[in-house]
Amino acid sequence: MSNLKDATQPVDSGRRHLLKAGGLVVVGGVLGGCATATEINPLIPPVAKLVEDTAQTRSTPAEPGTVIGSETPTLEKPTFVAKASNPFNYALADNLFWSDIMMEHSMFFVQLMPGRELEGPRKQAEEFARLFERQLEQARGLRPDNFVAFNRTSISLAKRLGDYKKTMREAQATGKMRSLVWPLFFEHTAREADRFAARLELYNRRQIEFDRAEVVDFWSKTMGEHSGFIAHLLDPDERLLIDQASKLERSFRDKGFRQVGGDTVLKAANEVLAFKTVGEKGIYAGKIKSIISPRLASHVRREAVRFIDELKRSS
Ligand SMILES: [Fe+2]
Ligand SMILES: [Fe+2]
Repeated sequence: MSNLKDATQPVDSGRRHLLKAGGLVVVGGVLGGCATATEINPLIPPVAKLVEDTAQTRSTPAEPGTVIGSETPTLEKPTFVAKASNPFNYALADNLFWSDIMMEHSMFFVQLMPGRELEGPRKQAEEFARLFERQLEQARGLRPDNFVAFNRTSISLAKRLGDYKKTMREAQATGKMRSLVWPLFFEHTAREADRFAARLELYNRRQIEFDRAEVVDFWSKTMGEHSGFIAHLLDPDERLLIDQASKLERSFRDKGFRQVGGDTVLKAANEVLAFKTVGEKGIYAGKIKSIISPRLASHVRREAVRFIDELKRSS
């Protein structure tokens, strides 16, 4: 592992300035010949290598019999992807990855719905967390001869959770409910529930191919919104990190990655992953001031790993 001095060696010292961001020293300034796809500081990825480990950025081929749940430490949670190109392996990976994601969404809602007046929607969220944890337990028994029926139960559950999220979005957006969940967070997580169900429906029709335009569109929206969430959950004092998150948000929202070639999208995906990796480590270590929970930091990082995997499969 290198140190910060090594990472900054190529930089013209006359043109750089060092900024302190939550205890992590980050190099800012203009660098020639290091253009990034997202306009993020080009030294964020090299600096990230100081604190990231490969466990955070690699995907894990899903194996039958795998068990994960709410007690699995979030830093150690694998990002499951299909081990082989057939409907069973895709279904196994998606049930493990997305059911965990759906369980975590429900846990976030529980945390962000405090007090007696929010008891009703909070109890519903608690129930969804329990149901998806049970789904994860039962996914250990997935086999090529039973995955289609199992997928139907996951589709039904994901649609129910998607409906709940859309209902909550309306309530929050119109002021009928006063939780700490943004309407966009409900919308974002409802889109993920719909995507989970849509992919399982494809596998049940024995289709596994990705539509590259859909992959880039879905994940660009997702990455852009994550960056916006991060910018708004950082301590206002973390100005450099907020600026970087806002640049990522704008890039994924405005740059039209839908139309551009594979390399640029993949580059942008790696940049957002590097940023989240640094962020997660900094949050775990108590070096970044924010109200981002370690679980949320891990969650958005794992979704970026998934983005990269699906990009590679659809190129
Ligand atoms: Fe999510
Ligand atoms: Fe997300």
